[in-house]
Formats: sequence, structure tokens, C-alpha cells
Amino acid sequence: MLDKRPENMLRINDNALAKQFIDEQVKEIREQVKDKKVLLALSGGVDSSVVAALLIKAIGKQLVCVHVNHGLMRKGESEQVIEVFGKQLDANLIYIDATDRFLSLLEGVCEPEKKRKIIGGEFIKVFDEEARKLEGISFLAQGTIYPDILESDGVKAHHNVGGLPEDMKFELVEPIRLLYKDEVRVVGKALGLPAEMVDRQPFPGPGLGVRCLGAITRDRLHALREADAILREEFDINNLSSKVWQYFIAVPDMKSVGVRNGKRYEGWPAIIRAVNTVDAMTATIEEIPYPVLHKITDRITKEVEGINRVLLDLTPKPIGTIEWE
Ligand code: XMP
Repeated sequence: MLDKRPENMLRINDNALAKQFIDEQVKEIREQVKDKKVLLALSGGVDSSVVAALLIKAIGKQLVCVHVNHGLMRKGESEQVIEVFGKQLDANLIYIDATDRFLSLLEGVCEPEKKRKIIGGEFIKVFDEEARKLEGISFLAQGTIYPDILESDGVKAHHNVGGLPEDMKFELVEPIRLLYKDEVRVVGKALGLPAEMVDRQPFPGPGLGVRCLGAITRDRLHALREADAILREEFDINNLSSKVWQYFIAVPDMKSVGVRNGKRYEGWPAIIRAVNTVDAMTATIEEIPYPVLHKITDRITKEVEGINRVLLDLTPKPIGTIEWE
């Protein structure tokens, strides 16, 4: 397998080039896999979704997709994976709701790197357990993209299933390993994946786990998920989704005093982070119109149980990282 992008490789930026890439890959995948079975950890992110759609096109039911819901997904994400891959594309999809496993391991753990390690480690464990139940798997497909190869310590270390035990090593199928992110999106569209899946903003492997700051509790995680869904909805309505690279809510483990329905109401603050960047190494703050901010504040404080304030993070990177943890 090529690990370096050939110099004459065209940047895939239209449907025709995408179709050509898809045809080539379908052929290559069939040649590599023959009649064997391929396993894929399908997170529902852009990269793994495009790999899944490519493999379904190439080898259909020889692909087994495993979607592990670690309980730290955004609102509606696991449901979308089931709808698109399980129902519309009729994939061989195994859905595992491992929420309780992850949340009980994370109970009381405040340290960000420890949280990441627990989430990454448990993900591999759940995936490994599932893989062992399956018979006749010869290949592991991964949504590695070109920047992952270029950055040897890529941020996706947690996401990719690189850490499987020695006896579970499979031959890899990495059909989009030479593509940049923008090309992956064009290919995804040409494969017929829904726009909201293909144009999605990046989402860290540990998911909402690094946005529910400090020790995660179910009630605060729920509040974060609901507030994040409102932010995304309002960004869509106000045409900001395509202008802002990454936007989300973080909820710290602290409460302040407020008033709701004439009574004292203690709640957590929801922090809005909305940044633009080219490579995630540095980031600038996108100006959000005040009327939109007022609407978001109004909706979150009225609709989300447990939140009584909305704050806006104006810190560029550096000095602040994009995520809070
Ligand atoms: P930071 O917070 O380092 O984030 O400025 C840069 C980009 O990386 C994403 N990110 C992660 N992605 N696993 C991931 O797959 C992680 O542990 C992780 N931490 C940060 C972040 O969302 C941003 O896009």
C-alpha cells in the first residue's frame, strides 16, 4: 500500500474526480479482500463513515461494522449511524450501547489525560470483545487520512483502533489514507452520504467526555448534550455552520446562583466555543452576531435542566486550546 501521495495525484474537488476515485478504490478493495471479511469500527465521523460507504459499495455484507456508543456521543449521533448504515445502506452493523461501562469507569475521575486514557482503553476493550465473537475476520478497515500519516502522533490516536492486542492484529484496509479531509467530504457526497454526516465538524474521539469538564456525572453530561444540540440547531438556522470550523458547548463542574420561576436556581454555566482554523494548530474566534447569542442563551437557559448561565469563550489558540480539556 502506498503511504505517500503521488506528486501527480489531483486534488479531488468535484463529483467526477470523486467517482473516479471511488471506482479505483472499489476495484482495489475487491482485489485486496477477495471473499474475506472486513471489520470496521464505525464512529459515525466523516472518515469512518466514508470508509464504510466505500466498503459497502465494494464488498457489501463482507463488511462488518461495529458502532460502539460510549455514552459520550452528541445528541442523535448513534441514531443517525443506525438509520444511515443499518437501514438505508443495509450494512452488516453491530450496535453496542456501552454507556454504562464507560460512565462507571469514569466516575469520580477529574484529570483530563486520565479520562482520555480510560475512554481510549475501554473503547479498544469493547471493540476487541466484539471482534472475538465474530468468526472469519481477516481485515481491519480504518479511516486513516493523509494528515494522520503526516502527523505521526496524530490526534486520532484514541480514535483509531491501533491499540488492539497482538493476537488481534489484522491486515489493514485503509482506502482513504492518501486523501485530505476536504477530499474525503467530496468522496462522501459522491457516495450518497447525507450532507449532515459528510460536512460535520470535527469531533474528538473522547467525545463529550472532554467537554463535561472534571468528573463526569450523568445529569451534567445530559445538560451538556442538550445545550450542544441547541447550539448546533441555532448555528444551522442562522447559516453559521458553514462559516465556523468547530463550535460546541463545554460545561464546567461548578454552579452559580440564579433565579428561575421566582425561585433560587443553582445551575452550571454553558460555555460556547466557536473557532475557525485551517489546521487546528492555531485558531481564531469567529464573531457571532449578538441576536444569535441572545437566542441561544434564551433557549439553553429555558430548555436545559441544570443550566442557568451561558458564557462565550473569546480565547484564541494559542493561548487556549480548542477543547477545554
Ligand atoms: P486542541 O484542543 O488540542 O484540539 O486545540 C485540536 C483539535 O483536535 C481535536 N481533539 C481531539 N481529537 N481525540 C481526537 O480525536 C482527542 O483526544 C482530541 N483532543 C482534541 C479537537 O476537537 C480539535 O479539533
